[in-house]
Amino acid sequence: MVVSRRRFLGTALAAGAFPAMVRSAGDIESLRAAPFVAQLAPEDYPATPVWAYEGRVPGPEIRVRQGERVIRRLVNDLPQPTTIHWHGVRLANGMDGVPDLTQSVIPPGETFDYDFDVPDAGTFWYHPHHRTWEQLARGLSGALIVEERRPPETDADITLVISDWRLAEDASLHESFGALHDRAHGGRIGNWVTVNGEGNWSRASRRNERLRLRLINTANGRIFSLSLEGLAGSVVALDGMPLETPGVPGEIVLAPGQRVDLVLDVTAAEGGEATIRSRERDGTYVLAGFPVTGTARSAPLGPVDALPPNPVPALGDLAGARRATLAMEGGAMGRLEAALVDGARVPIREMAAQGLAWAMNGVASLPETPLLDVGLGETVHLAMANDTAWPHGMHLHGHHFREVRPGGAFGPLRDTLLVAPRSAAEIAFVADNPGDWLFHCHMVDHAASGMTTWIRVG
Ligand code: C2O
Ligand code: CU
Repeated sequence: MVVSRRRFLGTALAAGAFPAMVRSAGDIESLRAAPFVAQLAPEDYPATPVWAYEGRVPGPEIRVRQGERVIRRLVNDLPQPTTIHWHGVRLANGMDGVPDLTQSVIPPGETFDYDFDVPDAGTFWYHPHHRTWEQLARGLSGALIVEERRPPETDADITLVISDWRLAEDASLHESFGALHDRAHGGRIGNWVTVNGEGNWSRASRRNERLRLRLINTANGRIFSLSLEGLAGSVVALDGMPLETPGVPGEIVLAPGQRVDLVLDVTAAEGGEATIRSRERDGTYVLAGFPVTGTARSAPLGPVDALPPNPVPALGDLAGARRATLAMEGGAMGRLEAALVDGARVPIREMAAQGLAWAMNGVASLPETPLLDVGLGETVHLAMANDTAWPHGMHLHGHHFREVRPGGAFGPLRDTLLVAPRSAAEIAFVADNPGDWLFHCHMVDHAASGMTTWIRVG
């Protein structure tokens, strides 16, 4: 199959047509991970055997208010162990879902209760953190939405979970999970993109309706370049964190793991369609459509206010910051000759035989010692050098950081930063969350083949 988009295929589901189907397990709501089938491809194709939370693709949207707790019992009915990571949530370390670092894996047939406070309002998501390159590609992911105590006034609040699938001719998932070729290139790139599990997602809208859209890229490796048509407004948050000043949505680049929140007025004419388009090599296609019927108000609401800030400690002067560097090497068209694997020097050919393709600071396995061991509250200033031919979406657990741009200006708060091929980038953050935290590429096939390290705080 190739990426394509058939217009007006099937029936458009209205937003909000995905009520969480809650199975109870005692008094704790469950998130049961199990095999399932989903109609991902057009209806003239068979359904796709997937793995899913609560029999839904994507998994049920978890929606809470800022400051509330999230409590879910992971019930593992998969044929292999799993965990859940709550991507972007600045939670207690023991709930972070990272095998060996913060918990042990949950074997098939067993359960684990996740229970944590959510300090920040914003758009987050959840996914496995064991064999992520397979479990994410098989369909295990869902949105975690934390509402502001006083949300901005909009007519609708719509989450778009964007997923990239590699389907075989019969619409089953291509079995090439973790293929070395993908690992050494851009990761497992699919051939079929869905929004909220549908290949042709659309929702009726009205002229001058104000929409809040929350876009989440759950793909293994695909980077989306999105543009808006018939929608005018602002980017209000990135990776769950409000922008101090809402930005103009030009081309929106969304690396794996990243999110963007938009507040938009529908400016397309009645009878027309507002769209989010995705740019591919061979042109653009409609990722999500908002056919316009009727009018919400006579004029658009106009300028968009900033969302209230989240309680992230401010970055001060970096002069006294703990500094570290991260050299990223390897991959196809790279120059890596060897790297340390579990403490031993392994030449690239043998690395490849073990499914490894990358190294960070010369190490291709999860290092025994952290990249940095910092005191609670210390400021960290990390310089990354991407000496590879590939972009990498670097994700930090438990904290949000800011890019430190050449000249010293700070970028917006993020938890995942796309670092372009053969380029450098610097980030800084206040290490205020105690524990052991991963720092890895969110091209999850890269993470599994050398691009994972960690820091210790406190
Ligand atoms: Cu969403 Cu460690 O990842
Ligand atoms: Cu990468």
